[in-house]
Amino acid sequence: MCGIIGYTGSGRREAVPILLQGLSRLEYRGYDSAGVAITLGEGRGIVTRKLAGRVTALRELMDRLPAHGGSGIAHTRWATHGAPHTRNAHPHSDCHERIAIVHNGIIENAETLRAALAGSGHQFTSETDTEVLAHLIEQTPGDTLEARVIAALEHVVGTYGLAAIAADEPGKIVVARRGSPVLLGIGDGEYFVASDASAVLEHTRAVVYLDDGDIAVLTPTSYQVLDREARVQRRSLNDLQWDLEAIELGGHAHFMQKEILEQPETIRSTLRGRLMGDGSVARLNGLNLTPADCADVRRIDIVACGTSWHAGLVGRHIIEELADIPVSVEYASEFRYRRRPRPSGKPGTRLTIAISQSGETADTLEAMRAARAAGSRVVGIVNVVGSTIAREADGGIYLHAGPEIGVASTKAFTSQIVALTLLGGYLGAHRGQSLDSKKADELVCSLTELPGLVSQALALEPEVQAIARQYSDAHHAMYLGRGVNFPVALEGALKLKEISYIHAEGYPAAEMKHGPIALIDEHMPVVFVAPHDEVYPKVVSNMHEVRARGGRILAITTEGNGDLSGGGLVDHQLRVPRTIPILSPILTVIPLQLLAYHTALLRGCDVDRPRNLAKSVTVE
Ligand code: F6R
Repeated sequence: MCGIIGYTGSGRREAVPILLQGLSRLEYRGYDSAGVAITLGEGRGIVTRKLAGRVTALRELMDRLPAHGGSGIAHTRWATHGAPHTRNAHPHSDCHERIAIVHNGIIENAETLRAALAGSGHQFTSETDTEVLAHLIEQTPGDTLEARVIAALEHVVGTYGLAAIAADEPGKIVVARRGSPVLLGIGDGEYFVASDASAVLEHTRAVVYLDDGDIAVLTPTSYQVLDREARVQRRSLNDLQWDLEAIELGGHAHFMQKEILEQPETIRSTLRGRLMGDGSVARLNGLNLTPADCADVRRIDIVACGTSWHAGLVGRHIIEELADIPVSVEYASEFRYRRRPRPSGKPGTRLTIAISQSGETADTLEAMRAARAAGSRVVGIVNVVGSTIAREADGGIYLHAGPEIGVASTKAFTSQIVALTLLGGYLGAHRGQSLDSKKADELVCSLTELPGLVSQALALEPEVQAIARQYSDAHHAMYLGRGVNFPVALEGALKLKEISYIHAEGYPAAEMKHGPIALIDEHMPVVFVAPHDEVYPKVVSNMHEVRARGGRILAITTEGNGDLSGGGLVDHQLRVPRTIPILSPILTVIPLQLLAYHTALLRGCDVDRPRNLAKSVTVE
C-alpha cells in the first residue's frame, strides 16, 4: 500500500535525507513509484522529484538533481487510479506548482470533481484521484493552507490520509485523515507525519495517532490537531514500544526469514505475563470482558482477511473446543456487505473478533463497524499497537510480536493462534462447565512448552531446503489437511503462491475426491498436513488415493507417527514435535513457511517484496 512520510524542522536538518530514509522504511508495504516534494523557503516554490521505480532510483535522481530545504513530503505509491508511471507518482501539484500533496486512500467522486475543475480551466497531468485534490485545494479560497484543505475536503467523498504543503507557507505541513491511517511524530524541534510508525522510529518514539476527521498542522516549532470547524482537539501522546532493531534485518537475508526464525520469541512475547496457573488460563486485562460478560456470549463471529482469516479458521476449532460457543468465520470483505439479522436477547450475547496484524485492513475495520452497528460487542486481535482496529474495538489482545515487515505474514499467524487460544481458554474458564481446572492447567502447560517446540520445528530447515530444490520447478501444488489443520493447508498454499508465484490450492483432504483429484498426476506435488490427531488415519487414506494416481507427496506429520516414506507411500516426510491437537497448527505451519521461503529463493523471487502485493491493504 502507499506510504507517506513528511518532515518539518527548525532548520538544523535537511529534509531530503530524512524523507528518503523514511521511504526506505516504508518499502515493505509494497509500492511501484516514489517521490518527494520540498519547500525551498521564502516563497521560492516547491521542487518535486518522482519516478516509477524503487526508492534507490529516487535517491540516485536526488543525487543528480538535489533539492535543499528543511521541510517536505514524500510518498511510495501502490497504483490504484492510473498505471505505475512517473506522471502518476506522488507528490501531485496544482496548475502553478504552488501546492503539493501526497495521499493514501481513494477519492470516490474524483471523476466528478475532475470534470468540474477541468471546466474551470484546471489542467491535469495524471490519471490519479490525488491530483484532483491538489487542484481542488488550489481552487478553494482561504487565508491559510489548513483553511483551504478543510474547505476543499467538504467536497470529497472517499478515504484519505494526506499531507499537503504550499509554496506560500514554507515549513508548514497540513495533514488530514479519513479512513487511511496517519500519525504524527513529535521530535525535539522537529515534526513528522507518517502512514506507519516504522518511518519515524529512528527519530522519535513519541507519536500522536490521528482519528478520522482530524486535521493536523505541523510547523517547524509546533503541531496542532483541529476538527473540521478548525477547533483545537486534544490527542494523547503515545510511546512507541518497538526497537529500531525490530525493523532492521539484523544479519538476515530477508525480513521473511528473520520473522520465521523469530517465532519462538514472538510466541513467548504473546504469552508473556498472561498465563495463569489457577485454572483461569489467562489474564487478559485489555479484553474488557468480565466473567459475567463471558457467560453471556452465545455466539462468536470472527472477521479477517488473508492469513489472519486462516488464523480465524484455526481459532474456530480452538474456541469451540475450549469454550463451547458456536463460532463462524467469515472473510471481512463478504461479512461487511451481508445483511445480518439483529440478535435477539440482551446486547453483548454476540461477540465479534476482528483479527488483523496491521490493525488497518479496510475490510476488517468495516466488518467490525458493521458488526457493532448490528448490536455485537467487538474485540480485536491485533499486532500494531495504536492501530485503528485496536483503538475502535471495545477491547482486545495485542500480539506483541513486534513489527512484521515481510509482506508474507508468518510470525503474526502463529501469535494470532496463540492469542485465540488464550481467548478460548479465558472464555471457557469463565463460563464454568466448558473448561475444568485440570484441562485449563494442561492447556497452560502446553502453551508454555510451545516456544521450545517451535525451535525444534525450525531445526527442520535444512531438510525443507533440500525438498524445496526438488519442487521449485513445479507449476502447481496442492495442500491438503483436515480439521484444525485444514486452515494450515490454506496458509501453506497462500504462502507459496504469494512469494514464489506457483499456483497452489488448499483443500480439506477429504474434499479432494469431490473434484480436485482430477488434477493429480506426476507433475502435481501434494503437501499433506497430517499431525497426530483423531483424523490422522483418514488423512493417510487420502495419501493412498493420491499415490495411486502418481502424485508426488510431502507429508508433514508429528514425531511418533508411523514411517510413511519407508513403504513408499510418500516421497518426503517431515516430523514436527507433538503437542495437543488444537495447538498443532503452530508447529505444522513452520515447515510450510520455510518451504515457501526456500522455493521462492530458488526461483529468484523477491521474497520481501512480492509483485503486486501490499503489506497493509487500507483500500477496499
Ligand atoms: C498473507 C498476508 C495477507 C494478510 C491480509 C490481512 O501473507 O499477509 O493475506 O494476512 O492482507 O492483513 P492484516 O492481518 O494486516 O489485516
